[in-house]
Amino acid sequence: MEGSLYERLGRIESIGAVVEDFRDRVARDDRIKQKFARTDLGRLTRMLIDQVCQAAGGPCTYTGRSMKDAHAGMGVTSGEFDALVGDLVATLNQFRIGKTEQGELLGVLGPLKPDIVEVDSSQVGTPLPATYQPAPALMR
Ligand code: HEM
Repeated sequence: MEGSLYERLGRIESIGAVVEDFRDRVARDDRIKQKFARTDLGRLTRMLIDQVCQAAGGPCTYTGRSMKDAHAGMGVTSGEFDALVGDLVATLNQFRIGKTEQGELLGVLGPLKPDIVEVDSSQVGTPLPATYQPAPALMR
């Protein structure tokens, strides 16, 4: 298949559906759902769609916080990071996204790991520290 990764992922309609499925998987996943306890899921969904669309070469502009700022003080472990990537791969498989496209997408998101992981441990299900400051909900 030809075109930018954005085109091959099926443009914004498909990226929106992929992100919503992924968000629901994460919200149900006992290994990581604790971290989202105080998160505005409307904002998170919108930010993830914009981030993936932009990273794939689509006509979107990500306006959220840097990955370092957004995840600072959250205490994310490497095990939790890998669990989230596993949920993403499960979603991509469900949507029949090809291995080439999966590799390209993980190739742009994977390098963000050092900005997100704060604890070098395989432990999962660790709590969100009480001191963590979530982003304000989106106005609409
Ligand atoms: C490549 C991996 C990841 C990417 C691309 C990513 C991306 C993002 C983005 C775009 C936001 C929105 C920032 C904003 O609202 O300004 C966000 C927020 C968030 N992320 Fe991640 N993230 C990743 C990994 C993780 C992991 C592993 C966890 C925890 C297990 C996590 C937990 C969260 C939480 C709880 C929020 C909401 C923060 C809030 O309430 O303001 N993220 N992430």
